[in-house]
Amino acid sequence: MDREQLLELVKDMTLEEKAMQMTQLASDVLYHLEPLKLTGPLREWRFSDEQLRETGSVLGPLGASYLKKLQKDYLNNSRQKIPLLFMTDVIHGYVTITPIPLAQGCTFDPELVKEAASAVAREAAASGLHVTFSPMADLVRDPRWGRVMESYGEDPVLNGALAAATVRGYQGEDPKERGKIASCVKHFAAYGQPEGGREYNTVDMSRGVLLDFYLPAYREAVRAGAAMVMSSFNTVERIPATCSKFLLRRILREKWGFDGVVISDYSAVEELMNHSVACDELEAGEKCIHAGMDIEMMSGVYVKTLEQLLEQGKITMQEIDEGVMRILELKNRLGLFENPCKDADEQEESRLLYCEEHLEIARRLAREGMVLLKNENVLPLTGTERIGLAGPFSCTGNILGGWHCNGKPEETKTLKEALEEACGTGVASAMTKHFSYENADVPDEVEEALDRLKDCDVCIAAVGEPEWHTGEACSRTDLRIGAHQEKLIHALKAAGKKVVAVVFSGRPLEIAPVLEDCDAVLQAWFPGSAGADAAADILFGKYNPSGHLSMSFQRSVGQIPVYYNAYNTGRPMTDETNHYTSHYLDCPNSPLFPFGFGLSYTTFSCEGLEVSGDAAKASARIKNTGERDGETVVQLYIRDVSASVVRPVMELKAFRRVSLKPGEEVQVEFSVTKDMLSFYNEEETWVWEPGEFDIMIGLDSVHVEKKRIFVPSEAGG
Ligand code: BGC
Repeated sequence: MDREQLLELVKDMTLEEKAMQMTQLASDVLYHLEPLKLTGPLREWRFSDEQLRETGSVLGPLGASYLKKLQKDYLNNSRQKIPLLFMTDVIHGYVTITPIPLAQGCTFDPELVKEAASAVAREAAASGLHVTFSPMADLVRDPRWGRVMESYGEDPVLNGALAAATVRGYQGEDPKERGKIASCVKHFAAYGQPEGGREYNTVDMSRGVLLDFYLPAYREAVRAGAAMVMSSFNTVERIPATCSKFLLRRILREKWGFDGVVISDYSAVEELMNHSVACDELEAGEKCIHAGMDIEMMSGVYVKTLEQLLEQGKITMQEIDEGVMRILELKNRLGLFENPCKDADEQEESRLLYCEEHLEIARRLAREGMVLLKNENVLPLTGTERIGLAGPFSCTGNILGGWHCNGKPEETKTLKEALEEACGTGVASAMTKHFSYENADVPDEVEEALDRLKDCDVCIAAVGEPEWHTGEACSRTDLRIGAHQEKLIHALKAAGKKVVAVVFSGRPLEIAPVLEDCDAVLQAWFPGSAGADAAADILFGKYNPSGHLSMSFQRSVGQIPVYYNAYNTGRPMTDETNHYTSHYLDCPNSPLFPFGFGLSYTTFSCEGLEVSGDAAKASARIKNTGERDGETVVQLYIRDVSASVVRPVMELKAFRRVSLKPGEEVQVEFSVTKDMLSFYNEEETWVWEPGEFDIMIGLDSVHVEKKRIFVPSEAGG
């Protein structure tokens, strides 16, 4: 179809048909009854059967044969033969589940993240899906919020690079191509900082913080070509994002030039009444149309109000037509007018879903995303130790992570199975009960565990939080691993065992209370379908760990938020003898483990920082000073020493993974561009202010080499 034909279609549509294009309903409310019958919310929303048949897009349906049938039935009934769009949340894998995005953040590896997203797209496309509600580009600083697992972490540059890589992986050069799907970046904007870490809570931050930290990653995803953007549930500057003209028109469309489709989050349009910015549905509809909200997800406000709003002259037909046109353009961009079922294909489904190739990609990604936090001469295991295994993650496939779409926990290899395969013998296991839905801990079977593992030298404690305690609506105030799991670690240590904790979680948990009694800690996150193999690869040294934290680890909940790229304050804590500095009486300011941190079985040095050409280039020598091949992540940070507005004490600007043999050395050079030294000033203009800058290179955000340089006004790459 060309643009003219699409415009003709819009011209030919009735208002009701337009409203239904702008409405998305979930497949379970739409299609589970045959013939269609109004149920639950649909009855309240007063949709007629005829209207339901004109719904423009469906949330959540899966499976090639089912979707082909839906599309055919729909088109048979449709007057204009405009194909349906199928969208759902393929967050980290479709059937082959990749590690949670927070773990993907720890890879610092956009190429691999992109490769994994392409594999995910191939599976989802074969099952007939057109759009995934991913990536989530929300920056996060508060691990109490359950959705930190869906984010790439606390840094805008890392977050942006991985969100963009994910979009490119899903969409390829052209989402119309076979095996590609369209990407919907979410949740625009600033959903990642709900007050108190409580889900759906108010977000309130300064314009400067929004610009410095929260907006850049969405912008990178949009620049990478994301076809859609989902608005967030929260308020930004006292206006819910769902109807924010500032966000949806001024930033997204005018500043960033986004011309794709904007969709609301689930029932967020009618929630404007709860937010108290709309007294009724009419006002909610009016505000969203003015803000350029193209599709309303799971509420019936547009259907009920557009006619009246037009009659009252509160909105214009042009505003509606623009939204409808963008929706038709997306359908066209996916090639649906010519090929309404796109790649839905049962044979391809059986060839691709959960195939060896995809499991291998998931395994590589899981390995790169696991972070070795501590290791005191215990890892890697040699295979000659008598190994014991204890804890709720020993014998379960529930390691995929929340929101794993069509993952197969029952077929997922358990840690016990993977360890036994890797070392070729049986592994004694204990206290292996998994969590119940209500409980973040398991029964106290520590005595039995000690007895069962009494002959072991090394005990692997597979501990953490239940996967259903992470993700949407899973905020928590207590982030310690359960009391019985803690007791297990202490008891194993007291019994003279070497203790290796493998922590499965969707967030940085509070592991300080057990740290001392662990000889090693491997942060495994929720590693997905091949996660157990990935952990075994690391524990036995088949893979040398290389993950670096994408989010700081707090020492305690009271310290949250703790993140590396903070503003300095007028009284930073630099002198411990001075009482009147910004600090806590009972806890250091520093995190337990900082952003960018991760150990390896080898050691690396990072020295000889050089900055040349008025900051145009910065380089350092990275050497593998240990005895094994290894990979690390070289990180370039800057600090603007003095500017017209406060600047963070450190800002990651670039990073590179390097792979080195023992004794091998490489000079890693980064360009330091003018853009990297620029920021939004008080007038919200992107400026570059000459003066002093610190340039830092290191292998985490604490241990860096630093050079202070002066950059005159005519410089900058
Ligand atoms: C979530 C979104 C998701 C949508 C559709 C909402 O509750 O916030 O992230 O895409 O549901 O499933």
